[in-house]
Amino acid sequence: MLDLHGIDNVVLEARSRDYVEHRQRAGLIEQATVNFLAELGVDERLRREGLVHGGIELRFDGRGHRIAMDELTGGRTVTIYAQTEIVKDLIAARLQRGGPLLFDTEALALGDIDGERPRVRACGSEGEFDLECELIAACDGFHGIGRPGMPPALLRSAGHSYPYAWLGILAEAPPSCDELIYCHSDRGFALHSMRSPEVSRLYLQVAPDARIEDWSDQRIWEELHLRLAQDGWSLTEGPVLEKGITPMRSFVAWPMRHGRLFLAGDAAHIVPPTGAKGLNLAAWDVHILGEAILASFEQGNDSLLDAYSDTCLCRVWRAQDFSYWMTTMLHAEPEDPGGYSRRLQLARLAYVCSSESAARSLAENYVGIERI
Ligand code: PHB
Repeated sequence: MLDLHGIDNVVLEARSRDYVEHRQRAGLIEQATVNFLAELGVDERLRREGLVHGGIELRFDGRGHRIAMDELTGGRTVTIYAQTEIVKDLIAARLQRGGPLLFDTEALALGDIDGERPRVRACGSEGEFDLECELIAACDGFHGIGRPGMPPALLRSAGHSYPYAWLGILAEAPPSCDELIYCHSDRGFALHSMRSPEVSRLYLQVAPDARIEDWSDQRIWEELHLRLAQDGWSLTEGPVLEKGITPMRSFVAWPMRHGRLFLAGDAAHIVPPTGAKGLNLAAWDVHILGEAILASFEQGNDSLLDAYSDTCLCRVWRAQDFSYWMTTMLHAEPEDPGGYSRRLQLARLAYVCSSESAARSLAENYVGIERI
């Protein structure tokens, strides 16, 4: 976005190009994110290869119920397109334009974020160097130096961790469904997603301390069959191309700006993957930040930069609530004396699948609420 407007910028990437282009993440893109990528001119492959979905299935008690998101939201849809593919498209566009994108270059420390010329100390293949600039966007994830670079006395945070994790696989198997299946079962949650007509992406709720060595491919498929079971439906298996375990947590740090340091994406907030809001929130943050930088640099108007944190946090908290709600509706609670949580979940699911206004609430959050 800055490139397109001729504003000099440097991107520091701690990892290698190969690493970031192959890291598996979620793959569900909201319409607002698709539109943003189109504005940037990096949507060509997404339009060609992305799978547009107008609904999802909620499966519980062994039966499926379709939530028609498009009909409930005036025609809005989501697009299935892996985050790694977006990363590849953005890198290709950046390299083509020739702007600096330094791989294997780690940001080590931030300096003078209150002053006119903040600095980033970084280490790349040719050793350490200082980068002086006008503004720093910390898009460096939960473990980056951006958030700890904020004055500790001013930064607040709150979060929640869940007593489960997700085990995800990528399988060379045609998807056994046309739309995503979010499945509640007494054995735990399962999600059937996809990447292409030939590749499925599947997830299982596992214990938070589960080890990938304990989950053979055979055990994973057996568990998927058991959880997703439905009369007249079957799951197609295929070679497992990749597998990994993702922890589940919710977290928000605020304010998202101090002085000339701006936090964006996972540097400021984490959501559990149920509903796949992580990438979409990050894209939203950088969209807001990009517009604010342009207003400041091109028109000398800092009001959008001043409003950045509040503007983003409004949507962040909406997504926090939705992700928590979806997660706690669908995952089996390991401690559930008498099965109270399970009954509540089934009551919520039955309500969402029988009341149009309850279904609409899910649908509008799922496709993404832009302005609140
Ligand atoms: C995915 O395809 O990776 C995916 C889809 C939907 C989710 C989470 C992950 O809610």
